[in-house]
Amino acid sequence: MSERDPLDRYYTPAWAVEALCERHDVAGRRVLEPCAGDGGIASVLRRRGAGVVTGDADSGVSTDHRWDFPALVRELGGAGFKAHFGRFDLVITNPPYSTPTTTAADVIRAALLVAPVVVCLLRTSWLDVVDEREDLLIERFPAWLLSLPRVGYRQPGQVGEVRGSQYPSAWMGWGAGLPRSGAVSKQERDRWLRLGSPQMELL
Ligand SMILES: C[S@@+](CC[C@H](N)C(=O)[O-])C[C@H]1O[C@@H](n2cnc3c(N)ncnc32)[C@H](O)[C@@H]1O
Repeated sequence: MSERDPLDRYYTPAWAVEALCERHDVAGRRVLEPCAGDGGIASVLRRRGAGVVTGDADSGVSTDHRWDFPALVRELGGAGFKAHFGRFDLVITNPPYSTPTTTAADVIRAALLVAPVVVCLLRTSWLDVVDEREDLLIERFPAWLLSLPRVGYRQPGQVGEVRGSQYPSAWMGWGAGLPRSGAVSKQERDRWLRLGSPQMELL
C-alpha cells in the first residue's frame, strides 16, 4: 500500500464536475475553489460560465492564492475573508480528506463562513459520526447528495488510466437552492468520458 500524499493531492476528473454542473447551474456565479490543486474543477466551472477564484496550499500548482484555507478563515473570520476577497455565491471543491494540519471538516466549516452554498466532493464514509466532525454533522448535516460511480482520482504528474478509488464518493451540498438529491449513472459517466474528459476509468 503506498503512503497517502501529505497534502492529499488526489485530483478530480472532469466528468464528475460536468455531472454536478448538469444539475446545479453555475453560469454567472462567483465561485471559490479553495483547494484547487491543478485546477480540474475550476476549469470545468469556468467553461460552464462561472467566475472562479482559486487557492491552494501547494506551492507546486498555479492558483490565484497560496493559503492554508481553514487557517486563513480562522484568522480573518468570515466577514474579514469576504472583505478581502469579495463575496462568493458558492464554494465548490474536493477538499483534502485528512492531512497532518487539516481535514475536510475544517475546510467545510471555513467554507460555510464565506459563502451561502457549499458543495464538496467527499468519501461517502465522511458521513460517519466521528469526534472530528460530530458537531458539523449534528448542526449542519448536508442538505443535498449526488452519489457517483467510483471516481478515479489523479495524482500530480499522473497520466493515462486511473483506477476508481477504493472509496465511494458523492457530492455533498449545504445551503438553499440546491437541486434534488440523486445519483449519476455509469452510462452518464461514460458519456462524459467519450465527450473528452482527459481520463480513462477502470472499475
Ligand atoms: C483532494 S485534492 C483536490 C484538488 C482539487 N480540488 C480537485 O478536486 O482536483 C486536495 C487539495 O487540497 C490542497 N490542500 C491541502 N491542504 C490544504 C489547505 N490547508 N488549504 C488549501 N488547500 C489545501 C492540496 O494541495 C490538494 O490540491
